[in-house]
Parts: sequence; C-alpha cells; structure tokens
Amino acid sequence: MSKLLVCGGAGFIGSTFARQRVREHGDEVTVLDKLTYAGREENLRDLAEDPRLRFLRGAIEDREAVDAAIAAAAPEAIVNFAAETHVDRSIAEPDAFVTTHALGTYVLLEAAREHGLRYVQVSTDEVYGSIEQGTFTEESPLRPSSPYSATKCAADLLVQSYFHTYGLPAVIVRGSNNYGPYQYPEKLIPLMILNALHGDRLPVYGDGMQVRNWIHSTDFARAIGHVLQHGAAGEVYNAGGPDEEANIFVVRRIIELTGASQELIEHVADRPGHDRRYSLSSEKVRALGWSPQVRFEEGLEQTVAWYRDNGWWWQPIRSGDYRSYYERQYGRALG
Ligand code: NAD
Ligand code: DAU
Repeated sequence: MSKLLVCGGAGFIGSTFARQRVREHGDEVTVLDKLTYAGREENLRDLAEDPRLRFLRGAIEDREAVDAAIAAAAPEAIVNFAAETHVDRSIAEPDAFVTTHALGTYVLLEAAREHGLRYVQVSTDEVYGSIEQGTFTEESPLRPSSPYSATKCAADLLVQSYFHTYGLPAVIVRGSNNYGPYQYPEKLIPLMILNALHGDRLPVYGDGMQVRNWIHSTDFARAIGHVLQHGAAGEVYNAGGPDEEANIFVVRRIIELTGASQELIEHVADRPGHDRRYSLSSEKVRALGWSPQVRFEEGLEQTVAWYRDNGWWWQPIRSGDYRSYYERQYGRALG
C-alpha cells in the first residue's frame, strides 16, 4: 500500500489507473486535475465515496496548487498523466500543449526534487514518430511529427535531465494507442462507436490504412503501476498492445458490432503530417513481469458494449461543447 499523487487522474487512463490502485492495491490516491474539456469527475464517480480517493482541482503548471496537493497527499510518488492528448487539437491550437507538457512537467519535477519523491512520467509511442516496418525499442531516436508529440518529447527530455543532473528517481512509460471505457469521443474508437450508434457519418482520414498498435487502458494502467513498483530509476519502458490494426478495419468492425450501415463511412481529408504506423516493442517491461491481458477483438467488443450501455457518461459530452469542436474539425454538424 502506498500514497500517490496522480496528476491528470480525472482523464481516461488516469482514472483507470486511480481505480486500479485504490481497488487492487489499497493505495491512497490524491488526484490533481485541471478539469479541461477532457477531464471529468464523472470518470471517478464509482470512487466518490471511497475514503482512499481524494480529488483536488488544479493545474500542474501552478506551483501553489502542486504544493497544496503534496501537502494534502503526503505522497511517496507522483504519477503524471496530465496532458493535452488530441493530435488534431495540437495542430489547430498548440498553445496549451506547450504549457502543460513543458511548463507543467517542469513544475512537477521541481516539486518532486524538493520533496524527495519518486516520479513516473506517462508518455507515448508518438515520440518515436512513424515506422513503416519493424518496431520501436526504447533506444529508437525521438522523431516527433506533431506539436502534441514534440511537446511530449520536451517533457520526456526534462524528466531524463532531472535524473541525470539531480539524481531524481524518475521513470518514463511510453504507451501505444489506448482504447476502453471513459475515452473522450474525439478519439478514433469512441468517435466511431458513438457516430455509428447515432447514424452519423464515420470520417476516415485519407485511405484509412494507417496502422495503430492497440492496448486496452486497463493493460496500460497496469504497466504504469508495474513500472512504478519495479522500474529502475532513469529508465524508459515501452508498453505496447498485443495487436496492430489499420483504421479502416477498426471502423468496419465497429460497424458490424453496432449494426450500423457500411455506407456511413466517409473518406475525408488526411491529417497534416499524419504518422502512418506505430509499433512498440515491450520486451523491457515484459522482463519486469508485465504482459497485456486483453486482445483487441475481445476488448473492442467490450468497449462497444460499454458505450452502448453508458449513455449517462457520454450524453452530456455529445450535447455540449464537443458539438462545436466537431463542427470545426469535420465541417459538419453531428445529427
Ligand atoms: P485525457 O485527455 O483523457 O486526460 C488528460 C487529463 O489531464 C484530463 O483529466 C485533463 O483535465 C488533465 N489535464 C490536462 N492538462 C492539465 C494540466 N495542465 N494540469 C492538470 N491536469 C491537466 O488523456 P489520456 O488519454 O487519459 O492520456 C493520459 C496520458 O497518457 C497523457 O499523458 C497521454 O499523453 C498519455 N498516453 C495516452 C495514450 C492514448 O492512447 N490515449 C497513449 C499513450 C500515452
Ligand atoms: O499512440 C499513442 C497516442 O494515441 C496517444 O499518445 C494520443 O494521446 C492518442 O490521442 C492517440 O493518438 P492518435 O492520433 O493515434 O489517435 P486518434 O484516435 O486521434 O487517431 C487514431 C487514428 O485514427 C489515426 O491514424 C487518425 C485516425 N482518425 C482519427 C479520427 C479522430 C480518423 O481516421 N478519423 C478520425 O475522425
């Protein structure tokens, strides 16, 4: 059992991690989250009455908020999920990405150094850029393509500098594409599920043959917990999913699972600078004893069922600001 400060713990993966740590490990978890459009207390609704979970609203770039959270939590470690996470938004409006990833990570690192805390940075396979064949290892060069991935690189490099310069016991975990319950519907899988359920068009970028390496969010959250407990300070660990799939096949499978019409598919203009393929080798974290448990076919079926059964979660999103984001991004209104 331990005490953790989980930054960004009201988001998709952070809330999954908080739930696992409280329920499966008996940890005391303090969530510090700015509650951007993507952060929602509803994601932690099932833990609201649990005394082991504390929620504080605040930004990681705000040193006072971070100090107050550390004072309240008395943590042994900081686990940082807090981020702007959507590539398309980083292309349209990069500002917040720079603030949260560069400045926010710096503020957390300073606080960890001052208080002598272990530090886990949650990062992404996108820092390596695109790979046509083979898989990225932790030794692969950083070649980010978007403002999202470039600023995630900035955060990773700062973390590594704090290990090398100050001996901060920090680790980095880089995940591949996550899917599962509570994912904000701007991302491919929940967007396609909800559009299919509503009879809205399914906007596939370019030819749809871009490949992603899918990992269920419970598997990625467990990898992060595993590295928190067993990872060596200063090291990077990749955590990739067991399956790769081209976008168009993911969309077609969602159509089958929802009973929608194939005619809803609409090929639209490609994302600028679009990475063609991601693929991660996870040998290093597997050697620590972690392995993914959920295969994509089974996980996708469960995810479609979760969205179908949990309208309470997505109805407020789909009827709120998300509608105007959707119109700006796709040039058409949701039905
Ligand atoms: P998300 O967008 O669902 O959640 C991000 C959370 O961070 C939200 O709760 C938001 O309110 C909070 N936040 C944003 N800026 C903040 C700030 N300045 N201060 C405090 N809180 C802030 O994202 P997610 O998909 O859960 O991603 C979590 C982490 O995992 C990110 O660091 C992301 O880069 C990384 N990651 C995501 C994926 C994926 O496929 N979703 C894959 C690999 C790595
Ligand atoms: O690889 C890890 C990364 O995965 C994370 O670091 C990011 O935070 C996360 O957003 C995700 O990035 P992607 O850009 O891969 O995810 P997204 O869901 O936006 O897109 C997945 C693929 O689907 C990508 O090739 C673009 C395509 N796509 C996406 C949307 C939203 C479409 O074809 N149409 C769409 O409408």
